[in-house]
Amino acid sequence: MVKQNPFVLEQFMDAHETGIEYNLGETCCSSLSIKELEILCGEPFPLHEIVEQKLAYTWIKGSDRLRDLVAGSYQGIGREDVVITNGAIGANFLTLYALVGPGDHVIVVDPAYEQLSSVPKMFGAEVSLLKLSADENYIPNVDKLDQLSQKNTKMIVINNPNNPTGSLIPTETMNAIVEIARKTDAYVLSDEVYRPLFHSIPDSDIPPSIVEIYDKGISTGSMSKAYALAGIRLGWVVSKSREAIEECLSRRDFNTISVSCVDDIIACYALKHKKSILKRNYELLLTNLQILQKFLDETKGQITCVLPKAGTTAFIRAETTASSMDFSLELIKKYNTLIVPGETFGYPGYFRIGFGNTKEDLVHGLENFKTLLKEKPKNT
Ligand SMILES: Cc1ncc(COP(=O)(O)O)c(C=O)c1O
Repeated sequence: MVKQNPFVLEQFMDAHETGIEYNLGETCCSSLSIKELEILCGEPFPLHEIVEQKLAYTWIKGSDRLRDLVAGSYQGIGREDVVITNGAIGANFLTLYALVGPGDHVIVVDPAYEQLSSVPKMFGAEVSLLKLSADENYIPNVDKLDQLSQKNTKMIVINNPNNPTGSLIPTETMNAIVEIARKTDAYVLSDEVYRPLFHSIPDSDIPPSIVEIYDKGISTGSMSKAYALAGIRLGWVVSKSREAIEECLSRRDFNTISVSCVDDIIACYALKHKKSILKRNYELLLTNLQILQKFLDETKGQITCVLPKAGTTAFIRAETTASSMDFSLELIKKYNTLIVPGETFGYPGYFRIGFGNTKEDLVHGLENFKTLLKEKPKNT
Protein backbone atom coordinates (compact mmCIF):
# COMPACT_ATOMS: atom_id res chain seq x y z
CA MET A 1 0.00 0.00 0.00
CA VAL A 2 1.32 3.46 -0.91
CA LYS A 3 1.86 5.81 2.03
CA GLN A 4 -1.01 8.28 2.15
CA ASN A 5 -0.58 12.01 2.83
CA PRO A 6 -2.82 13.55 5.52
CA PHE A 7 -6.30 14.74 4.45
CA VAL A 8 -5.47 18.46 4.54
CA LEU A 9 -9.07 19.74 4.47
CA GLU A 10 -10.36 17.46 7.23
CA GLN A 11 -7.33 18.24 9.42
CA PHE A 12 -7.93 21.97 8.99
CA MET A 13 -11.60 21.53 9.90
CA ASP A 14 -10.79 19.35 12.94
CA ALA A 15 -8.27 21.87 14.20
CA HIS A 16 -10.53 24.90 13.96
CA GLU A 17 -14.21 23.96 13.85
CA THR A 18 -14.90 23.28 17.51
CA GLY A 19 -15.99 26.36 19.41
CA ILE A 20 -15.91 28.68 16.40
CA GLU A 21 -18.59 31.37 16.47
CA TYR A 22 -19.28 31.88 12.76
CA ASN A 23 -18.79 28.76 10.73
CA LEU A 24 -18.50 29.15 6.95
CA GLY A 25 -16.42 25.99 6.78
CA GLU A 26 -19.45 23.77 7.32
CA THR A 27 -20.80 22.04 4.20
CA CYS A 28 -23.91 20.45 5.69
CA CYS A 29 -27.25 22.19 5.66
CA SER A 30 -27.55 23.47 9.23
CA SER A 31 -27.68 20.29 11.32
CA LEU A 32 -30.90 19.12 12.96
CA SER A 33 -31.62 17.50 16.33
CA ILE A 34 -34.24 14.76 16.61
CA LYS A 35 -36.45 17.28 18.39
CA GLU A 36 -36.20 19.72 15.47
CA LEU A 37 -36.70 16.88 13.02
CA GLU A 38 -39.91 15.92 14.78
CA ILE A 39 -41.33 19.45 14.51
CA LEU A 40 -40.34 19.64 10.86
CA CYS A 41 -41.76 16.24 9.96
CA GLY A 42 -45.01 16.65 11.91
CA GLU A 43 -44.98 13.08 13.22
CA PRO A 44 -43.71 11.91 16.62
CA PHE A 45 -40.30 10.30 16.40
CA PRO A 46 -40.70 6.52 16.94
CA LEU A 47 -38.53 6.40 20.04
CA HIS A 48 -39.98 3.01 20.94
CA GLU A 49 -38.25 1.53 17.88
CA ILE A 50 -34.87 2.50 19.30
CA VAL A 51 -35.71 1.61 22.88
CA GLU A 52 -37.02 -1.83 21.94
CA GLN A 53 -34.41 -2.64 19.31
CA LYS A 54 -31.86 -5.24 20.44
CA LEU A 55 -28.49 -3.56 19.97
CA ALA A 56 -27.02 -6.36 17.90
CA TYR A 57 -25.25 -6.09 14.53
CA THR A 58 -28.82 -6.32 13.21
CA TRP A 59 -29.12 -5.53 9.47
CA ILE A 60 -25.84 -6.39 7.80
CA LYS A 61 -26.37 -4.61 4.47
CA GLY A 62 -28.66 -1.99 6.04
CA SER A 63 -32.32 -2.68 6.82
CA ASP A 64 -34.63 -3.57 3.92
CA ARG A 65 -36.76 -0.58 4.87
CA LEU A 66 -33.79 1.79 4.63
CA ARG A 67 -32.49 0.34 1.37
CA ASP A 68 -35.99 0.70 -0.13
CA LEU A 69 -36.13 4.34 0.97
CA VAL A 70 -32.68 5.09 -0.49
CA ALA A 71 -33.57 3.26 -3.72
CA GLY A 72 -36.69 5.45 -3.92
CA SER A 73 -34.51 8.52 -4.56
CA TYR A 74 -33.27 7.04 -7.86
CA GLN A 75 -35.11 5.98 -11.01
CA GLY A 76 -34.99 2.26 -11.77
CA ILE A 77 -33.11 1.27 -8.62
CA GLY A 78 -34.12 -1.51 -6.22
CA ARG A 79 -33.12 -2.53 -2.72
CA GLU A 80 -30.58 -5.04 -4.09
CA ASP A 81 -28.66 -2.17 -5.74
CA VAL A 82 -28.03 -0.38 -2.42
CA VAL A 83 -25.32 -0.94 0.20
CA ILE A 84 -25.46 1.07 3.43
CA THR A 85 -22.18 2.54 4.69
CA ASN A 86 -20.70 4.86 7.33
CA GLY A 87 -21.41 8.15 5.59
CA ALA A 88 -20.47 9.07 2.04
CA ILE A 89 -16.86 8.96 3.16
CA GLY A 90 -17.35 5.27 3.92
CA ALA A 91 -19.18 4.79 0.63
CA ASN A 92 -16.36 6.35 -1.42
CA PHE A 93 -13.70 4.44 0.47
CA LEU A 94 -15.52 1.13 0.11
CA THR A 95 -16.06 1.62 -3.63
CA LEU A 96 -12.41 2.45 -4.24
CA TYR A 97 -11.22 -0.34 -1.93
CA ALA A 98 -13.43 -2.80 -3.77
CA LEU A 99 -12.68 -1.80 -7.34
CA VAL A 100 -9.24 -0.22 -7.89
CA GLY A 101 -5.67 -1.32 -7.28
CA PRO A 102 -2.21 -1.67 -8.84
CA GLY A 103 -2.29 -1.69 -12.64
CA ASP A 104 -5.47 0.40 -12.78
CA HIS A 105 -5.70 3.94 -14.03
CA VAL A 106 -8.20 6.30 -12.40
CA ILE A 107 -9.19 9.78 -13.59
CA VAL A 108 -10.46 12.19 -10.95
CA VAL A 109 -11.84 15.70 -11.37
CA ASP A 110 -9.93 18.46 -9.58
CA PRO A 111 -10.75 20.41 -7.47
CA ALA A 112 -12.88 17.93 -5.56
CA TYR A 113 -13.08 16.29 -2.17
CA GLU A 114 -9.49 15.14 -1.61
CA GLN A 115 -10.49 11.61 -0.58
CA LEU A 116 -11.50 10.88 -4.18
CA SER A 117 -7.95 11.17 -5.55
CA SER A 118 -5.99 10.23 -2.44
CA VAL A 119 -7.59 6.83 -1.76
CA PRO A 120 -7.12 5.29 -5.24
CA LYS A 121 -3.46 6.40 -5.08
CA MET A 122 -3.12 4.70 -1.70
CA PHE A 123 -4.49 1.47 -3.18
CA GLY A 124 -1.75 1.59 -5.81
CA ALA A 125 -3.70 2.91 -8.81
CA GLU A 126 -2.23 5.47 -11.18
CA VAL A 127 -4.27 8.68 -10.80
CA SER A 128 -4.68 11.44 -13.40
CA LEU A 129 -6.37 14.69 -12.46
CA LEU A 130 -8.87 16.26 -14.82
CA LYS A 131 -8.48 19.95 -14.03
CA LEU A 132 -11.70 21.95 -13.88
CA SER A 133 -11.44 25.62 -14.73
CA ALA A 134 -13.42 28.70 -13.77
CA ASP A 135 -13.46 29.70 -17.46
CA GLU A 136 -15.47 26.53 -18.17
CA ASN A 137 -17.69 27.01 -15.11
CA TYR A 138 -15.89 24.07 -13.51
CA ILE A 139 -17.62 21.64 -15.88
CA PRO A 140 -15.36 18.73 -16.95
CA ASN A 141 -13.87 19.26 -20.40
CA VAL A 142 -14.72 16.03 -22.22
CA ASP A 143 -12.00 16.44 -24.85
CA LYS A 144 -9.40 16.63 -22.10
CA LEU A 145 -11.03 13.65 -20.39
CA ASP A 146 -10.82 11.68 -23.63
CA GLN A 147 -7.13 12.54 -23.92
CA LEU A 148 -6.46 11.37 -20.36
CA SER A 149 -8.27 8.07 -20.88
CA GLN A 150 -6.00 5.09 -21.51
CA LYS A 151 -6.41 1.37 -22.08
CA ASN A 152 -6.29 0.53 -18.39
CA THR A 153 -8.61 3.34 -17.23
CA LYS A 154 -10.73 1.44 -14.72
CA MET A 155 -12.65 4.32 -13.22
CA ILE A 156 -13.61 7.94 -13.84
CA VAL A 157 -14.45 9.82 -10.65
CA ILE A 158 -16.67 12.87 -10.65
CA ASN A 159 -18.13 14.89 -7.81
CA ASN A 160 -21.55 16.12 -8.83
CA PRO A 161 -22.61 18.63 -7.43
CA ASN A 162 -19.00 19.55 -6.83
CA ASN A 163 -17.32 20.42 -3.56
CA PRO A 164 -15.85 23.09 -3.46
CA THR A 165 -17.16 24.89 -6.57
CA GLY A 166 -20.91 24.16 -6.39
CA SER A 167 -20.83 23.36 -10.11
CA LEU A 168 -23.20 20.85 -11.63
CA ILE A 169 -22.45 18.66 -14.64
CA PRO A 170 -25.20 19.08 -17.24
CA THR A 171 -26.89 15.99 -18.66
CA GLU A 172 -25.20 16.20 -22.06
CA THR A 173 -21.74 16.34 -20.47
CA MET A 174 -22.65 13.39 -18.26
CA ASN A 175 -23.65 11.44 -21.34
CA ALA A 176 -20.34 12.33 -22.98
CA ILE A 177 -18.44 11.17 -19.87
CA VAL A 178 -20.30 7.86 -20.01
CA GLU A 179 -19.37 7.41 -23.68
CA ILE A 180 -15.69 7.89 -22.81
CA ALA A 181 -16.01 5.43 -19.91
CA ARG A 182 -17.59 2.83 -22.22
CA LYS A 183 -14.52 2.86 -24.47
CA THR A 184 -12.45 1.20 -21.72
CA ASP A 185 -15.38 -0.44 -19.93
CA ALA A 186 -14.62 1.83 -16.97
CA TYR A 187 -16.79 2.51 -13.95
CA VAL A 188 -17.95 6.06 -13.30
CA LEU A 189 -18.00 6.81 -9.59
CA SER A 190 -20.08 9.90 -8.94
CA ASP A 191 -19.88 11.31 -5.44
CA GLU A 192 -23.43 12.71 -5.25
CA VAL A 193 -23.44 13.58 -1.56
CA TYR A 194 -24.85 17.08 -2.36
CA ARG A 195 -27.72 15.64 -4.38
CA PRO A 196 -30.57 16.79 -4.56
CA LEU A 197 -29.63 20.35 -3.49
CA PHE A 198 -30.25 21.86 -6.95
CA HIS A 199 -30.98 25.41 -5.82
CA SER A 200 -30.10 27.53 -8.85
CA ILE A 201 -31.35 25.70 -11.93
CA PRO A 202 -34.82 25.09 -13.34
CA ASP A 203 -36.25 21.62 -12.63
CA SER A 204 -35.96 20.79 -16.32
CA ASP A 205 -32.15 21.08 -16.05
CA ILE A 206 -31.75 18.70 -13.12
CA PRO A 207 -29.29 16.08 -14.32
CA PRO A 208 -29.87 12.37 -13.71
CA SER A 209 -27.86 10.42 -11.20
CA ILE A 210 -25.04 8.50 -12.87
CA VAL A 211 -26.79 5.22 -12.02
CA GLU A 212 -29.78 6.28 -14.11
CA ILE A 213 -27.74 6.56 -17.31
CA TYR A 214 -24.92 4.04 -16.99
CA ASP A 215 -24.95 0.40 -15.92
CA LYS A 216 -21.40 0.74 -14.61
CA GLY A 217 -22.26 4.00 -12.81
CA ILE A 218 -21.87 4.14 -9.04
CA SER A 219 -23.48 6.85 -6.94
CA THR A 220 -22.43 7.60 -3.37
CA GLY A 221 -24.55 9.68 -1.03
CA SER A 222 -25.49 10.19 2.59
CA MET A 223 -27.74 11.77 5.19
CA SER A 224 -25.14 14.48 5.97
CA LYS A 225 -25.62 17.38 3.57
CA ALA A 226 -29.12 17.56 2.05
CA TYR A 227 -30.76 15.94 5.09
CA ALA A 228 -28.70 17.83 7.71
CA LEU A 229 -27.96 14.68 9.72
CA ALA A 230 -24.17 14.19 9.54
CA GLY A 231 -24.13 12.98 13.14
CA ILE A 232 -25.77 9.68 12.29
CA ARG A 233 -22.89 8.76 9.94
CA LEU A 234 -25.06 7.01 7.45
CA GLY A 235 -24.45 6.82 3.71
CA TRP A 236 -24.78 4.49 0.73
CA VAL A 237 -23.34 3.04 -2.44
CA VAL A 238 -25.85 2.59 -5.26
CA SER A 239 -25.19 0.78 -8.53
CA LYS A 240 -26.91 -1.41 -11.08
CA SER A 241 -23.59 -3.18 -11.62
CA ARG A 242 -23.84 -6.57 -9.87
CA GLU A 243 -20.06 -6.83 -9.90
CA ALA A 244 -19.65 -3.48 -8.12
CA ILE A 245 -22.27 -4.28 -5.49
CA GLU A 246 -20.94 -7.81 -4.86
CA GLU A 247 -17.36 -6.52 -4.53
CA CYS A 248 -18.49 -3.76 -2.15
CA LEU A 249 -20.42 -6.25 -0.02
CA SER A 250 -17.49 -8.61 0.07
CA ARG A 251 -14.96 -5.90 1.03
CA ARG A 252 -17.36 -4.38 3.51
CA ASP A 253 -17.05 -7.51 5.69
CA PHE A 254 -13.51 -6.35 6.43
CA ASN A 255 -14.25 -2.82 7.56
CA THR A 256 -17.89 -2.29 8.46
CA ILE A 257 -19.93 -5.45 9.23
CA SER A 258 -23.01 -3.27 9.67
CA VAL A 259 -23.75 0.37 10.49
CA SER A 260 -25.45 1.30 13.76
CA CYS A 261 -29.04 0.04 13.90
CA VAL A 262 -29.94 3.24 15.81
CA ASP A 263 -28.67 5.32 12.90
CA ASP A 264 -30.60 3.11 10.49
CA ILE A 265 -33.86 3.81 12.39
CA ILE A 266 -33.24 7.58 12.45
CA ALA A 267 -32.40 7.61 8.74
CA CYS A 268 -35.63 5.72 7.93
CA TYR A 269 -37.69 8.27 9.83
CA ALA A 270 -35.94 11.17 8.08
CA LEU A 271 -36.17 9.68 4.58
CA LYS A 272 -39.85 8.93 5.10
CA HIS A 273 -40.25 12.70 5.60
CA LYS A 274 -37.62 13.81 3.14
CA LYS A 275 -39.92 16.29 1.41
CA SER A 276 -40.26 18.39 4.57
CA ILE A 277 -36.52 18.28 5.29
CA LEU A 278 -35.58 19.20 1.73
CA LYS A 279 -38.11 22.05 1.71
CA ARG A 280 -36.50 23.50 4.85
CA ASN A 281 -33.05 23.17 3.34
CA TYR A 282 -33.95 24.69 -0.06
CA GLU A 283 -35.43 27.67 1.74
CA LEU A 284 -32.32 28.01 3.86
CA LEU A 285 -30.04 27.86 0.82
CA LEU A 286 -32.12 30.33 -1.19
CA THR A 287 -32.08 32.85 1.66
CA ASN A 288 -28.35 32.35 2.16
CA LEU A 289 -27.61 32.66 -1.55
CA GLN A 290 -29.06 36.18 -1.50
CA ILE A 291 -26.69 37.06 1.34
CA LEU A 292 -23.79 35.54 -0.58
CA GLN A 293 -24.78 37.45 -3.71
CA LYS A 294 -24.84 40.75 -1.78
CA PHE A 295 -21.37 39.99 -0.39
CA LEU A 296 -20.06 39.25 -3.90
CA ASP A 297 -21.54 42.49 -5.23
CA GLU A 298 -19.94 44.49 -2.43
CA THR A 299 -16.49 42.93 -2.94
CA LYS A 300 -16.50 42.89 -6.73
CA GLY A 301 -13.09 44.50 -7.25
CA GLN A 302 -11.37 42.01 -5.00
CA ILE A 303 -13.37 38.79 -5.33
CA THR A 304 -14.46 36.69 -8.28
CA CYS A 305 -16.71 33.67 -8.17
CA VAL A 306 -18.50 31.33 -10.54
CA LEU A 307 -21.90 31.24 -8.88
CA PRO A 308 -22.78 27.80 -7.54
CA LYS A 309 -25.63 25.94 -9.21
CA ALA A 310 -26.11 23.26 -6.58
CA GLY A 311 -24.82 22.03 -3.24
CA THR A 312 -23.74 24.17 -0.31
CA THR A 313 -20.38 25.61 -1.28
CA ALA A 314 -18.95 28.43 -3.38
CA PHE A 315 -15.31 28.73 -4.43
CA ILE A 316 -14.17 32.34 -4.48
CA ARG A 317 -10.92 33.82 -5.68
CA ALA A 318 -9.75 36.78 -3.62
CA GLU A 319 -6.92 39.17 -4.26
CA THR A 320 -5.37 40.18 -0.97
CA THR A 321 -1.91 40.82 0.41
CA ALA A 322 -2.09 37.62 2.49
CA SER A 323 -2.09 34.00 1.37
CA SER A 324 -5.49 32.27 1.70
CA MET A 325 -4.10 30.18 4.55
CA ASP A 326 -2.73 33.16 6.51
CA PHE A 327 -5.92 35.12 5.83
CA SER A 328 -8.07 32.23 7.09
CA LEU A 329 -5.98 31.76 10.23
CA GLU A 330 -6.23 35.48 10.99
CA LEU A 331 -9.99 35.38 10.38
CA ILE A 332 -10.27 32.61 12.95
CA LYS A 333 -8.05 34.33 15.51
CA LYS A 334 -9.30 37.87 15.19
CA TYR A 335 -12.91 37.42 14.12
CA ASN A 336 -13.86 33.94 15.35
CA THR A 337 -14.88 33.06 11.80
CA LEU A 338 -14.01 29.85 9.98
CA ILE A 339 -13.57 29.74 6.23
CA VAL A 340 -11.67 27.09 4.28
CA PRO A 341 -8.48 28.29 2.55
CA GLY A 342 -7.93 27.16 -1.04
CA GLU A 343 -4.58 25.59 -0.09
CA THR A 344 -6.55 22.69 1.42
CA PHE A 345 -7.70 21.88 -2.13
CA GLY A 346 -4.34 22.74 -3.69
CA TYR A 347 -5.71 26.11 -4.89
CA PRO A 348 -3.92 29.02 -3.17
CA GLY A 349 -5.67 32.36 -3.69
CA TYR A 350 -9.10 30.71 -3.31
CA PHE A 351 -11.48 30.21 -0.40
CA ARG A 352 -14.39 27.83 0.03
CA ILE A 353 -17.49 29.34 1.58
CA GLY A 354 -20.05 26.95 3.02
CA PHE A 355 -23.41 28.70 2.83
CA GLY A 356 -25.69 25.94 4.17
CA ASN A 357 -25.20 26.82 7.81
CA THR A 358 -27.46 29.24 9.71
CA LYS A 359 -28.23 32.69 8.30
CA GLU A 360 -26.48 34.21 11.36
CA ASP A 361 -23.27 32.32 10.63
CA LEU A 362 -23.30 33.56 7.05
CA VAL A 363 -24.25 37.21 7.71
CA HIS A 364 -21.68 37.73 10.48
CA GLY A 365 -19.06 35.48 8.90
CA LEU A 366 -19.14 37.34 5.58
CA GLU A 367 -19.18 40.71 7.34
CA ASN A 368 -16.00 39.67 9.18
CA PHE A 369 -14.46 38.41 5.96
CA LYS A 370 -15.15 41.79 4.36
CA THR A 371 -13.60 43.66 7.29
CA LEU A 372 -10.41 41.62 7.10
CA LEU A 373 -10.36 42.04 3.33
CA LYS A 374 -10.30 45.82 3.84
CA GLU A 375 -7.34 45.41 6.19
CA LYS A 376 -5.53 43.41 3.52
CA PRO A 377 -6.26 45.18 0.26
CA LYS A 378 -5.43 43.90 -3.18
CA ASN A 379 -1.76 44.26 -4.18
CA THR A 380 -1.44 47.22 -6.52
C1 LIG B 1 -17.87 15.55 -1.75
C2 LIG B 1 -17.94 14.93 -0.40
N1 LIG B 1 -18.01 13.60 -0.30
C3 LIG B 1 -18.11 12.98 0.88
C4 LIG B 1 -18.13 13.71 2.06
C5 LIG B 1 -18.28 12.98 3.36
O1 LIG B 1 -19.63 13.02 3.74
P1 LIG B 1 -20.25 12.15 4.91
O2 LIG B 1 -20.47 13.05 6.06
O3 LIG B 1 -21.53 11.66 4.38
O4 LIG B 1 -19.31 11.03 5.21
C6 LIG B 1 -18.05 15.10 2.02
C7 LIG B 1 -18.03 15.90 3.26
O5 LIG B 1 -17.75 17.07 3.28
C8 LIG B 1 -17.97 15.73 0.75
O6 LIG B 1 -17.94 17.05 0.63
